[in-house]
Amino acid sequence: MLAPSLLSADFSDLKSALQTVEQNGGSVVHIDVMDGIFVPQISYGQPVVQSLRPHSKLPFDVHLMVEKPENQVDSFAEAGADWITFHHEACVHSHRLIQRIHSLGKKAGISIVPSTPVQAVSELLEYVDLVLIMTVNPGFGGQKLIPSCVRKIQELAEIRRERNLDFLISVDGGVNGQTLDSVLAAGPDVVVSGSAFFSGKLNWKNS
Ligand code: DX5
Ligand code: ZN
Repeated sequence: MLAPSLLSADFSDLKSALQTVEQNGGSVVHIDVMDGIFVPQISYGQPVVQSLRPHSKLPFDVHLMVEKPENQVDSFAEAGADWITFHHEACVHSHRLIQRIHSLGKKAGISIVPSTPVQAVSELLEYVDLVLIMTVNPGFGGQKLIPSCVRKIQELAEIRRERNLDFLISVDGGVNGQTLDSVLAAGPDVVVSGSAFFSGKLNWKNS
């Protein structure tokens, strides 16, 4: 599945960006929420998700790059998020938060930054619906993929097979025309792309 990230869309015309996603192979809309604390910038929040919701039938994949994600999940669920992913590095009581997301009827995802090993979320794998592997340090679109992070996708796929689990593996950051093949070779289920997708340089259909 391709999950284009609205972070690289024209913010003055996000409604059209949703059409661009649907017309160019997107199966999921990736929505990057930044709080200016966990990451340096602030992007958009619940009111933006709520106003976009009626304009797309695709699932909204909300990536919370925020401190204290437990304070945000109820309102994002209400605003129309379908998948809610939070960072392992921003949450101590992750099982509780996963349960909360599930109780709101949403899919729960856990994400790790490049310096966090897959092993760090081992205890959560049987509870989550999605693991988001960051292949850049979160916070900005258009950064260069860190090649050593790609093997985490494979590592996770092996663990999933060994333990007979069924979470999705998603990869986020620096996926473009040059890196797409190596990323796909590692076997993710979901590929997030922002700058390459919105500048027409991803070549998703050809891959
Ligand atoms: C980075 C975000 C990504 C970002 C990806 O902090 O989580 O989703 O939009 O952008 P590209 O594809 O340009 O690296
Ligand atoms: Zn993201």
